[in-house]
Parts: sequence; C-alpha cells; structure tokens
Amino acid sequence: MKNQPARGTRDIWGKEFSHFIKVQSKAWEIAERFGFQGIETPIFEFTEVFLKNLGDASDIVNKEMYTFSDRGGDSLTLRPEGTASTVRAIISEGLTRETPLKFYYQGPMFRYERPQKGRYRQFYQIGVEFIGSNEPLADVEVLSLSYDFLSELGLKKIIELKINTIGDKESRDNYRTELVKFLTPQKNKLSEDSQRRLEQNPMRILDSKDPQDKAITLNAPRPQNHLNESSKKFFDEVLNNLSKLGIPYSIDDKLVRGLDYYTHTVFEFVTESLGSQGAVLSGGRYNDLVKNMGGGDLPGVGMAAGVDRLMLLIDQLEPTSEQKILGIIPVFDADVENALLIMQKLRHSGIKCEMPLTGNISKKMKKASKNCSHALIVGGEEWTTQNIVLKNLSSGEQKTIPLNNLEINIKKEIYP
Ligand code: HAM
Repeated sequence: MKNQPARGTRDIWGKEFSHFIKVQSKAWEIAERFGFQGIETPIFEFTEVFLKNLGDASDIVNKEMYTFSDRGGDSLTLRPEGTASTVRAIISEGLTRETPLKFYYQGPMFRYERPQKGRYRQFYQIGVEFIGSNEPLADVEVLSLSYDFLSELGLKKIIELKINTIGDKESRDNYRTELVKFLTPQKNKLSEDSQRRLEQNPMRILDSKDPQDKAITLNAPRPQNHLNESSKKFFDEVLNNLSKLGIPYSIDDKLVRGLDYYTHTVFEFVTESLGSQGAVLSGGRYNDLVKNMGGGDLPGVGMAAGVDRLMLLIDQLEPTSEQKILGIIPVFDADVENALLIMQKLRHSGIKCEMPLTGNISKKMKKASKNCSHALIVGGEEWTTQNIVLKNLSSGEQKTIPLNNLEINIKKEIYP
C-alpha cells in the first residue's frame, strides 16, 4: 500500500487549513451579501452533463475528465467544474421558472492535469451563477462580487481584472469564419493541439501557450472587431458600470477562455505572484447553456475562484497566522474540576481553549506551549483570593486577574 496521497492531490491541515476556511467563509459571506443562496451538488454526475456542455474540443473534455463506469454500467464523471452541475440541478429541481436564480457553491473539482504549484488534480472552487438575466448589470454584479471578495481577502494590490467579449452567437460565428480564413494557410506551422482546434474550436488557438502559435496569432483578427451592434452595446454597458463602481480592468482582446459555453463577457482575475498559474478567479456569460441542456431560454453569467491559488496568495501575505488558543492548566488533580468549569464558561463566550489532559503542571505547561499563546493557571495561592494567573507563553509575562468577569478580562489580554 502506498501511504501517500495520489498524484495531484494533497492533505490540507494546520496553517493551510485556516487559509482554506478563511477563503471559503469570506466567499460565502460576500455571496450572501449580494443576495445569492447556497447550493450543494453531487461530486459526480452522468458523464454527458459535462461531455455535451463544456465543449468537445475543450481540454477538460478531451484530456482531463475522471470518467468511470459504476457497477450498474452508468458512465459517471467526477465534476471538473461547477457551472454545468448547477444548471443541471436547477433543471432537475424544476427551478427554471423562478428566475432570476442566484446560487453560490463550493467544493472539490477534478481535472487530470499535470500537477505543479497552484495546479492540482483535486482542487477546490467557490463559484456563483446568476441565471435568468440578460442584463449587462448581472455581469456587473458578478464582477463586483468577485472584486469585493478578492479585495476583502487583502489581495487587491496583487490582482488585475482582464476582460473581453466574444459577443453573441452571430458575432462569434462571424469571427470564427474570419479566424479560420486567417489561420488555415498557416495550419502546418501550428502546434498539434492547435491544428485539432482549428477544426473544432479555433478561438482557443488565441490563448495557446505554444511560442510558435503565439507568433502566428499575433496578427490574427480579434473577436472585438467582429461584434454586431448589440454585442458592442452590451460590452460597453458592462465596462461603463465597472468604471462607475471604481473597479479597475484592462481589456485583453486575446482572452477567450477554455470552455465552449461562453458568449459575450469573459474575464479572469490574474496575479503575477503565482508563476504560470496566474488565474485566480474566472468566468463569463453563457447565454445558451441552459437552453442546450434542455432548461429553456435562460441566459446566465457566473464565476469560479481557485481556492487553492487564493490560499497560496494569502500565505505569501501572512505567512504566520498566530493561533490565539488559551491553555487551561490545573495546578493539582484537585483543580481539574474547576478548570473544566472555567474552560466551559470561556468556550461559551467564544474563547478558544484547550486543556492538556495528562502530566504534572510543568509537563502540562510544556504541552500547552506548543499550541497555545497563553496559559491560565487554575489553583494555587491566587485562587484563594478569587484571582487567577494568566501567562503569556511567548514573552513569559504573568498577570494576576480577578475571577470576576474573567471572560472580559481574558479577551482584553488575548485579543487586544
Ligand atoms: P475555470 O477557469 O476552468 O472556470 O476555473 C476557475 C478557476 O479554478 C481558475 O481561475 C483557477 O483559479 C481554478 N482552477 C482551475 N483548474 C485548476 C487546477 N487544476 N488546480 C487549481 N486551481 C484550478 C470554470 O471552472 C467555470 N465553471 C467558471 C464559471 C462559472 N464560468 C461561469 N460560471
């Protein structure tokens, strides 16, 4: 047996776990603030939920899905992303008449990619989907939620919003024809992946990382120059409102995104602090996805953030997140009962406490110093005068504080 996590997966604990909780709870808080409600969908779905909707030519469908047959012979896939699952859920639950629908979700996603820093085979996303509105203001809501989320995680200075439009279906089709016309004469010089994409999904060639592809696409036509009037107007309204809200952005006319369901707005919040895995939050509008999945003509827009990448960024900003735990130390065995009662009272008031369970007082102090910032010594001389000793375990400083109003006094000392 290999006592190791499978390649591209990892255990999350200690400091990393506190970053994990911090990112997810901030996302929930902000999504609720914007009027979204939570949804939890299964980790696996029938394979066709993803196969049909993410795009036959997408890397995810072609190379990255964890697909298996179960014992009943159904083909199932571990979800590689959350949008198709959420749309499947609103259709299954019969919610498509109650629009607009605003859902947020979180959890593990699975893609068979080459693992590296910030790229895993099991990774975590938090996402939101705003379904049933064709207004550019819905895009602005998703973008301003994303911006507030990243800002409140303290990342405003190291992220940048890149945005583009690929227009509606008509604009996309026009553009596709122009692009294929431009690329076909140079087909043989394109990378193998891009040659395949030329047939299936030529727009993806624009964001190829291959140097030769990059050189060829430098002068390729751009989606922006093939937009019809309504697509142009749509994008302008999104951008104008971002400016009014003070959300900085730059237009990246090569940004097309890797999933087939996008129409109109596409965006990525990127950072230079993570090497090549710079996209920390991405999304866009998908006006045909719900219809294609059989749920009626419901346009949508959404985003998903890479929790793992945000955790790495937070770690760079605050490498030591000090755990303020209070160690409760009974002097003698006879003091254990009082220690338990005090610990219960302090916990009920929201103070994090723990009590080493074995050993004499010096052993207990030693154990407490591993995990705790302070120790509260229950018993001894002070106790007889209704006082208690609080010791700062890093400075060694001791204070005698009254037992009366203990919670308030401790909070003042520990969380000044
Ligand atoms: P995506 O760009 O494929 O979009 O993924 C969203 C985010 O997930 C990325 O920006 C990145 O931070 C993170 N991510 C993706 N793959 C990995 C990986 N292998 N390891 C670590 N992090 C990763 C979507 O999934 C769309 N469903 C977003 C969306 C929602 N569009 C509309 N609504």
